[in-house]
Amino acid sequence: MRTLLLGGAGFIGLHLARRLLADGHAVTVVDDFSRGRRDRDLEGMPLDVRDGDLTDPRTYRALEHGWDQIFMLAAVVGVRNVERDPSRVLRVNTLALMHLLDWIERDEPLFFASTSEAYAGGVSAGLVPVPTPESVPLVIEDVASPRFSYAISKLHGEAAVLHGAHAVVGRFHNVYGPRMGADHVIPELSLRAMRGENPFTLYGSEQSRAFCYVDDAVEAMVRLMATPAAFGRIVHIGDDTEETNIADLAKLVLRIAGSVGGSVAGRDPVIDPVPAPAGSVARRCPDLSLLRRLTGFEPRVSLEEGVRRTFDWYRRSAVAAVVEI
Ligand SMILES: NC(=O)c1ccc[n+]([C@@H]2O[C@H](COP(=O)([O-])OP(=O)(O)OC[C@H]3O[C@@H](n4cnc5c(N)ncnc54)[C@H](O)[C@@H]3O)[C@@H](O)[C@H]2O)c1
Repeated sequence: MRTLLLGGAGFIGLHLARRLLADGHAVTVVDDFSRGRRDRDLEGMPLDVRDGDLTDPRTYRALEHGWDQIFMLAAVVGVRNVERDPSRVLRVNTLALMHLLDWIERDEPLFFASTSEAYAGGVSAGLVPVPTPESVPLVIEDVASPRFSYAISKLHGEAAVLHGAHAVVGRFHNVYGPRMGADHVIPELSLRAMRGENPFTLYGSEQSRAFCYVDDAVEAMVRLMATPAAFGRIVHIGDDTEETNIADLAKLVLRIAGSVGGSVAGRDPVIDPVPAPAGSVARRCPDLSLLRRLTGFEPRVSLEEGVRRTFDWYRRSAVAAVVEI
């Protein structure tokens, strides 16, 4: 299989690349390295890596055709980008996709990475149930709010690929794991636990999330791309088996930090709860009935095991000064 990963040097892309190589694929990665890194993890894999800005149609024109699978992961993501530069989020996420659709051939199967944020407006407005299935109505409460720029760009993408390609849309729900940067909650808590922060500030401690370890998300992607009935559909991807609130998640991270000899070993920091960032939903959990029905998927990595693997990676990387602590 010849597989193309657009935005493949980022978090999910690298874990997907590792899995596809193990399955015998020849993998080509295209990335502009705006967030993805040419680090030891990437350099250590037998990938064909190409530097290119996917908002520039010449990047696509330079690529050959005949791919067995194409994964569109490239996007500007993260709360910080969304708050600081919503126009960049909208520009990059829509333009990179529209050029892809101008270039892709009808028989090249496409996976498009979307997000649970696509329906988050409906959760905030109390209009959709949690756990949330794919079928809920979509609500953009305020088109001018920076927060919705990401959801709008992904909703546009969902409609564009469903009409313009032979595609599966996967909506990721709180995927986490090694090498995901320092902005997301699990790496951020891990890095602060390593520093021995005390008091330990906790944003939105009552908020509830269902975290999905990246290997499980990758398994779901691989299965969906092998399922003809998944094409032309939006499918939720996540782990609905172990919802947790942020306070309990922090306790788990601190316990792991203590047990592996992190700097908090031997003393429990005082938790200092502060309100969640404006606009983030109180509860998020996917309804995975469709994913299970289509593919037989079941999450395999427990929250404790996934957090432990993630913490270990950040501890080793911090020692090697790959990430800041
Ligand atoms: N991680 C999650 O929990 C999560 C949740 C919902 C949706 N998603 C979606 O999954 C996809 C992958 O997410 P991730 O967490 O791996 O993000 P990431 O930021 O680690 O990966 C995205 C990659 O795209 C690249 N990129 C950005 N703009 C580009 C451009 N113009 N040209 C070429 N490359 C470009 C970045 O350098 C980066 O390597 C994204 O589309 C994201 O919206 C992820």
